[in-house]
Amino acid sequence: MIINGKEIALKIKDQLKNDVETIRENYSRMPKLVVILIGDNPASLTYVRNKERGCDYIGIESEIIKHDSSFSERQLLEEIEILNNDETVDGILVQLPLPKHISEEKVLNAIAFDKDVDGFHPHNVANLFLGQNSLVPCTPKGMLVLLEKINYDLDGKEVVVVGRSNIVGKPVALLCLQKNATVTIAHSKTKDLKKICSRADVLITAIGKPKFFNHEYIKDDAIVLDVGINRDENNKLCGDVDFEDVKDKVKAITPVPGGIGPMTITMLMQNTIEAFYKRNG
Ligand code: GUN
Repeated sequence: MIINGKEIALKIKDQLKNDVETIRENYSRMPKLVVILIGDNPASLTYVRNKERGCDYIGIESEIIKHDSSFSERQLLEEIEILNNDETVDGILVQLPLPKHISEEKVLNAIAFDKDVDGFHPHNVANLFLGQNSLVPCTPKGMLVLLEKINYDLDGKEVVVVGRSNIVGKPVALLCLQKNATVTIAHSKTKDLKKICSRADVLITAIGKPKFFNHEYIKDDAIVLDVGINRDENNKLCGDVDFEDVKDKVKAITPVPGGIGPMTITMLMQNTIEAFYKRNG
């Protein structure tokens, strides 16, 4: 089975659209997301445009603030402080990566945790670690929702996550653990990656290497969630997994594009609505 993330995301977006309609009828203002983009990284520009489109579709207000790459750390921190204090703003997202002269750590720490729709603030990270209610990072959240939608129960399953980033690898591992999976986090220093991946009931790949995982890494009837967004030798979008090589071996797999990507944006919209409700009761 090919997991159609685009279609599943669209269904969720339509539900969120209804939620926003209910907000329109009952509140004096709409949920609002502010996205800050610094510099002109082409991938970031595309991501930000997609976020704006997602907001428009659902009926969330959005504001994209763009600065050139000379914008200073101090200016950015001041801007975040103003948005933190702006009662009409529910979600603040600073697009990563940031230029080298700006500390990612300082910036992520500066965002009010109840407006941190990325779920990257230490307060939200700690809550996720503790299994407490928090704003959860969008890509990991989207993956768990996909598994739910295909009625896959993680209880007692072997999950192998390849990649240990704060954005994807670590949080998705915690979420799977919360669902009673046995979780392994593998990474660039892992020995015998093939052997470890081959025991996975669910393999999650987030390493950014085009078509790295072929059938030798995959157990028969595994579920494969491919987070990679890469270009292959023909400049075509592809995942970390060699889709054609593994598709007949797996129980289910997310394609690239059209798998995890659309879910990430949708979860951002959901987090923005969640932040709105948390702040407005
Ligand atoms: N850059 C790539 N992915 C992300 C993300 O999930 N959030 C932010 N803020 N920047 C990103």
